[in-house]
Amino acid sequence: MREARRYPEKLKDVFDTHAHLYDSRFEENGMTPEMILRNAASSGVTRILIPADNETTSLAACEFVRKYDGTEGVELFCSVGVHPHEASSYSPEVEERLLDMIKRKDELKIRAIGEIGLDYYYDLSPRDVQKEVYRRQLELAYENDMPIILHERDATGDSIDILRGLYKEGRLRENPGVCHCCTCSPEIARELVKMGFYIGFDGPLTFKNNKKTPSILENVPDDRIVIETDSPYLTPEPNRGLTNEPANVVWVADKIASLRGRTTEEIIGLTTENAMRLYELI
Ligand code: NI
Repeated sequence: MREARRYPEKLKDVFDTHAHLYDSRFEENGMTPEMILRNAASSGVTRILIPADNETTSLAACEFVRKYDGTEGVELFCSVGVHPHEASSYSPEVEERLLDMIKRKDELKIRAIGEIGLDYYYDLSPRDVQKEVYRRQLELAYENDMPIILHERDATGDSIDILRGLYKEGRLRENPGVCHCCTCSPEIARELVKMGFYIGFDGPLTFKNNKKTPSILENVPDDRIVIETDSPYLTPEPNRGLTNEPANVVWVADKIASLRGRTTEEIIGLTTENAMRLYELI
């Protein structure tokens, strides 16, 4: 098996804001949680947020944090919520159980509601159900005073309409959350920033033929950029083709640094501070 390339410089205090560490693909590839966290620590990653996509993975994310928080000096956080792919699984009973977890958010280290949103690329749940479940969880986030992790693909029009409505009614928080793996237009990214959103960048930014993501980045000010891996998916260059892991988030920072004419250390510094504000850890 090809070895992952490690970042040549000594970096510290890196925050991977989005990694699905409970995903079975790690185990299938012989990667234990201890290995993943050891690799993360050796790349300078000291904080990771583990997002959920349905009720089962919400429990799995909380359980991963309970079991492994602090391993190799890496601090772990999680989110709970139902992804648009899984919108059909949402019910009053599921919502009740999500709320039970949210009530214990400090103890369980739950820092956001997500991933929630709309995905018309895969259309794995009917669109009207996706919209209803998205609205419902945006409401939950507002009522429980928590940021969201937004997943939106090929559904920018409907998603931004829902957000604009809430923004106008004053039912969007000052820190509404993060647009994870942002794929909308640069104009919409600017509008999201105006609403208070952070914008998440990951592997696709480093892909050679991707012109779109760099054009989104150009429209996002320094104080709103966060970095993520979306592990085990979306592995950045130069490790594309291998299973993604939080250690690779430094390559995303490296790419942002080269696009902005800054040093990787500077980008790490500002993205970590942004992530701390996003997940309200400072
Ligand atoms: Ni994800």
